[in-house]
Amino acid sequence: MKFTYYGHSCFSVEIKEKNILFDPFITYNELAKDIDVDAIKADYILVTHGHSDHIADCVSIAQRTGALVVSSFEVCEWLKKQGVEKTHPMNTGGKKQFDFGTVKCVVAQHSSAMPDVSYGANPLGFVVMSEEGDFYNAGDTALTMDMQLIPKWAKLKFAILPIGDNFTMDAQDAIWASDMIECNDIVGVHYDTFGYIKIDHQKAQDDFKAAGKTLLLPKIGETIEI
Ligand code: NI
Ligand code: MN
Repeated sequence: MKFTYYGHSCFSVEIKEKNILFDPFITYNELAKDIDVDAIKADYILVTHGHSDHIADCVSIAQRTGALVVSSFEVCEWLKKQGVEKTHPMNTGGKKQFDFGTVKCVVAQHSSAMPDVSYGANPLGFVVMSEEGDFYNAGDTALTMDMQLIPKWAKLKFAILPIGDNFTMDAQDAIWASDMIECNDIVGVHYDTFGYIKIDHQKAQDDFKAAGKTLLLPKIGETIEI
């Protein structure tokens, strides 16, 4: 699978020639200033929760591309009010088959409110199961025992975990999460964007290596084969 990183928790994965974009936040991310937001392709946009650092560019990209936005019911209702026409509402525990594969919504231990501070429902993680492989996007979350359930549903090829600390797990918690989800190839996200979440890349990668795991930290704008 092709994985392209757009900074913070925003990335896209290409499956069966469909572009699945997660948590679009580019315009307001100083570190992503070289990304041309109008050039990003999306057939689907999956949004984990309502915080602006996960949704800020969702309306404009959805309107330009006509992508189907998949998120919690409440986030979808808010997006409809902002003029997004194509949404698919879900909630924790539910799964739905799309043409690229199946998406299952799982627990994320965090909070959620919309950018205008209206109610944002519970945050989600997504497990994506496809013919090209399965992966897990944890969203913003603490380390939680619920992660142990994920191998019951999917044999993960890779997982995207937050590592920035302060608002989410840190790299050490992500190592323990990687044990629970039975997946050793981790892409780290949700770090460096703000002062609170600046991390030591080398130390994080060394700690993963010492645990027999790989922490991938693609550059913003970089596409990797995973
Ligand atoms: Ni958040
Ligand atoms: Mn966040």
